[in-house]
Amino acid sequence: MTTASTVDLDFSRGPTSHPELQRWVDEVVALTTPDRVEWCDGSSEEWTRLTAVLVDRGTFVELSEPANSFRCISDPDDVARVEDRTFICSDNESGAGPTNNWMDPVDMTTVLTEQFRGAMAGRTMYVVAYCMGPLDSAESEFGVEITDSEYVAVSMSVMARTGTAVWQRMGTDARFVKGLHSVGAPLSPGQQDVPWPCDHTKYISHFPQTRTIWSYGSGYGGNALLGKKSFALRIASTMARDEGWLAEHMLILKLTSPTKDVRYIAAAFPSSCGKTNLAMLEPTLDGWTAETIGDDIAWLRFGAGGQLYAVNPEAGFFGVAPGTGMKTNPNAMRTIAGGNSIFTNVALTDDGGVWWEGMTKQAPDHLIDWRGNDWTPDTKTAAAHPNSRYCTPIEQCPTAAPEWNDPQGVPISAIFFGGRRSTTIPLITEAFDWKHGVFLASILSSETTAASTGTVGVLRRDPMAMLPFIGYHVGDYFQHWLDIGADANSPRALPKIFYVNWFRRGGDGDFLWPGFGENLRVIDWALRRIDGRADATHTPLGFVPTSDSLDLTGLGLDHDDLEEALTIQSEEMVEELTLIDQWYATIGGNKLPDELRQELNWLKVRLSTY
Ligand code: GDP
Ligand code: PGA
Ligand code: MN
Ligand code: MN
Repeated sequence: MTTASTVDLDFSRGPTSHPELQRWVDEVVALTTPDRVEWCDGSSEEWTRLTAVLVDRGTFVELSEPANSFRCISDPDDVARVEDRTFICSDNESGAGPTNNWMDPVDMTTVLTEQFRGAMAGRTMYVVAYCMGPLDSAESEFGVEITDSEYVAVSMSVMARTGTAVWQRMGTDARFVKGLHSVGAPLSPGQQDVPWPCDHTKYISHFPQTRTIWSYGSGYGGNALLGKKSFALRIASTMARDEGWLAEHMLILKLTSPTKDVRYIAAAFPSSCGKTNLAMLEPTLDGWTAETIGDDIAWLRFGAGGQLYAVNPEAGFFGVAPGTGMKTNPNAMRTIAGGNSIFTNVALTDDGGVWWEGMTKQAPDHLIDWRGNDWTPDTKTAAAHPNSRYCTPIEQCPTAAPEWNDPQGVPISAIFFGGRRSTTIPLITEAFDWKHGVFLASILSSETTAASTGTVGVLRRDPMAMLPFIGYHVGDYFQHWLDIGADANSPRALPKIFYVNWFRRGGDGDFLWPGFGENLRVIDWALRRIDGRADATHTPLGFVPTSDSLDLTGLGLDHDDLEEALTIQSEEMVEELTLIDQWYATIGGNKLPDELRQELNWLKVRLSTY
């Protein structure tokens, strides 16, 4: 990164003299033919102006509270990530692997050039410069998103460091990821706009070779806020492969124990499986403090002492609203109470506030639901869309750790992988070693959620919780994880790996484990394992807590429920092995690392005598 310059920036001609960037903006203007170009400076005046435009168009309603906050309703068909329309356009199909849709980069460019031709007619084109990671870090990365959506421009200013400070630091030669976004709804002269313009046809396309992203047809966060999934995971994972680091779908959490030991952990769960909640955990054990560093993405690099250090590249939370309330996630509620937030597809209360399922036990008597219809507690459908979201700045989070903005990042002691499994997978399992941990992560599985379009509740493998986000071949990605372990200058410096499941259900269909703040009890066990201070049973899957090794003080949990949450059942595991075999078969013999195949064989051997 180049250092900050103090030159005054001229926003009428563009605040940059970066030749490559200027050339690209000129090309996009010529192709997409917007009425106007605005270079975003990230100021509060700009926020006020753009949110006013959105209010005028009927996209936003300004809320009575929290302050400076807006409720937004999307097109009902543009509410989630579109995995079937997401492409990795590596030079060869084998570069994308079996977990990605692939199209030849030349063919995709041809298709998208026609989609984008004239796509911004009648609209304003915004040029948003952003920085993933702390502004003055050598390891942060720049991106520029060109978009014709005011919603995207204002959301990006919450989710990433944007504006003048970024333009200055980019100088004339910084490397940056190009992200081109259009909602795909050009306006002819005099044509009335709609509150949520978008197109039925959608393309979320990634070109790892040139580090560019073309996103067409959707305004939904995960498809359109290109710093997040598209850059910080898909493109960054390919940069990380080339440069020896990791770009992962992980929260980062700081924990201080009653004896004042500070530990940092990272945890990867698929979308809508508990990252944001764990990142803002409210401890239920006395004497503990939990502080938030990141809730969705971690960039991990080796640092001092050969340890893995994690940085959160983002500056905001794009959290699942339903299920968020003072009981489950009070710190998220306090963060959004600070205002400056955007709520998408939630319900509107009669006094101009927001509501969603799980915010309060009792629903208000009357609401306008996410489709714009009257809603009462008797209405059969949900008031908020299950993937409705709040978008809010990290700096308002009362539990934000000061380190969230530290260029050095934080040293990670443990990595947790987890999924949403109603059966089979125990509450927590400790991997035998790094290789075994990579194996457990490679077979991670979860029931699908509303974060992506498609059927909810379908079991699928979601390796490292990265299935929709790995920017290259999953077999090479596994090898990269194994190599990271081999590269560590001491195995003891590597984080310990754990596999968790907060979502196992008993015969009555209820969750066996209370979850949320109580998850600290599980993490406490894991941290004591690192220090050799907790008992465990050696099982075929890994080390599982003995039922009296978890600190259950004051919990009043049914003992049978706990036993059930911790068991490994042979019949369930036999079924699981079939699914793992099928999953590994899709990866292909020449790409699945031998070490992982060997781990699977050892698991089979251990299970055969269990
Ligand atoms: P993320 O998308 O991975 O960040 O997941 P969130 O933290 O936003 O949680 C997604 C959904 O799972 C929300 O509805 C939460 O209320 C719910 N959830 C989160 N943590 C737990 C937990 O420990 N137990 C249970 N039962 N539900 C949880
Ligand atoms: P999530 O992030 O993981 O918090 O759900 C958004 C997404 O993955 O679409
Ligand atoms: Mn996510
Ligand atoms: Mn989240």
